[in-house]
Amino acid sequence: MQRRHFIHTLSTAVLSLQALTLARQAFAQVPPTTPPAAPHWRSNPFALGVASGEPRPDAVLLWTRLYPGAPAVGESASRLQLWAHFQEQSGLNAQQACVVHYDVFSDEALRHRVKQGQVRTHAGRGWSVHARVTGLEPNRPYWYRFRCGEAVSPVGRTRTAPALGAATAQMRIALTSCQHYEQGYYAAHAEIAQQSLDVVLFAGDYIYESSNPKYRIRPHTGGIPSTLDQYRERHALYKLDPDLQACHAAHPWVCTWDDHEVENDYAGVHNIRYQDAESFLQRRAAAYQAYFEHMPVWPGANDHGPHQRIHSHYQWGDLVDWWMLDCRQYRNAQPCRDPLKGGGRVVVACDERDDPRRTMLGSAQEQWFSDSFKAAKAHWRLVVQSTQISSTSLPTPVGRSIFTDGWDGYPVARQRLIHTLAQAPKGTVVTLGGDVHMNVAADLRQVPNDPHSPIVAAELVTTSITSRGMGESTLARIREHNPDIRHARSDERGYTLIDVQREHITATFRATPHPVQAGATLSTQAQYTLRHGEPGLARQ
Ligand SMILES: [Fe+2]
Repeated sequence: MQRRHFIHTLSTAVLSLQALTLARQAFAQVPPTTPPAAPHWRSNPFALGVASGEPRPDAVLLWTRLYPGAPAVGESASRLQLWAHFQEQSGLNAQQACVVHYDVFSDEALRHRVKQGQVRTHAGRGWSVHARVTGLEPNRPYWYRFRCGEAVSPVGRTRTAPALGAATAQMRIALTSCQHYEQGYYAAHAEIAQQSLDVVLFAGDYIYESSNPKYRIRPHTGGIPSTLDQYRERHALYKLDPDLQACHAAHPWVCTWDDHEVENDYAGVHNIRYQDAESFLQRRAAAYQAYFEHMPVWPGANDHGPHQRIHSHYQWGDLVDWWMLDCRQYRNAQPCRDPLKGGGRVVVACDERDDPRRTMLGSAQEQWFSDSFKAAKAHWRLVVQSTQISSTSLPTPVGRSIFTDGWDGYPVARQRLIHTLAQAPKGTVVTLGGDVHMNVAADLRQVPNDPHSPIVAAELVTTSITSRGMGESTLARIREHNPDIRHARSDERGYTLIDVQREHITATFRATPHPVQAGATLSTQAQYTLRHGEPGLARQ
């Protein structure tokens, strides 16, 4: 045993005598009823950084979580150990609430404070802090920080959206997804943090619950999470990454989720082990709660357990209407599942997939999106969802094979989506996605892969931040047999820079080879442009 480790173990043992007793007393008393207490921090409670999100013309959401380090570095801790550690580091009894103050400034030098306020937090919400700051001016940057006791957080920069309908010339976006911690470093986030941007869009797989020993650059702590404490630990591990923290501190994010925030390939109330719905929903509730506790996403409905709305609509002046869709929570199970192992798989003949009752978005979200999309008036429409819409099917002697977890497993729902997208003026719609760990530029046609069918929208799918992509030989066949796909590369990791101007949208795939090494630099893999009013992407 190393000396440092021995001392740490010893101090943890001493701590347990006093603090564990207090933590045990506090265990059943959340949320607290006693008045908020003043903490006296022995370590930095802002170790997970700060973040902002959901930019509106007059408002933005600020986030942090009080987290004074892990009680056992590199190892998992029980809830009692977590609480005991928090008590020791904060001077608070874990049954007490704590008040966190926030300040918002109009200048980077923090001389002009324009807003301030406070948020009460407690152990029942993982000491997370969400502050929705309103009364801000449109279309401008702000800087913010939090205070708790004597501790002061790092400074974050955020911005508001232009006023509704205001003439707007440009919007710059970084599209991101799939950041498996074990499979590489967050060089993409380091570069995004340095970019001049309006917003970061995250399309899902913010954490991974699972592990693949073949591609492990740096290990997760803990095993596969299933409880609230375990999901919290996983989120905290990701948030400790300095590049991810820098990216959150630099720009507001707008997020949706995919499957790995809960479990690989879950679909609505179904998981791959055919667990009963009630048990799986308990796990989903734990995963969703930990997600909201750690993200700059408004947790307003967080008391609804396993049922949480995340889909939403945003506007950027008169330039962009955009939607964040939820492709996981409301969908039917994948069609033609293997009775021994659920989730997605490759199938050939599967009549079930053509059932018109099958849904990816759920009927309520689908109706909401259709209504909102048809009412939109902006110059461009961006539809953000978690995966690839264009087909990746392959011919076989007995029909085309499809992967059932993607939109190919929900073809009638996809046709309904395409029908809605076709209501917009030609050459004004771009769909954005992630999940498949490759950069894709594609045409979405009324009839997929029929070159005579009209193009309804352009599709851009970003590669993963770190997660490994599929093999090149399979992808070469997919490209060959799906003419709608104009570009597809799965060998590099990164993000997609999207520059929206009135005349055109330019997408730049920024990438580096797999796996991502610490300090890796990214370069441009390819660039595509969509001219306003004209169908189809053009390579630059
Ligand atoms: Fe992923």
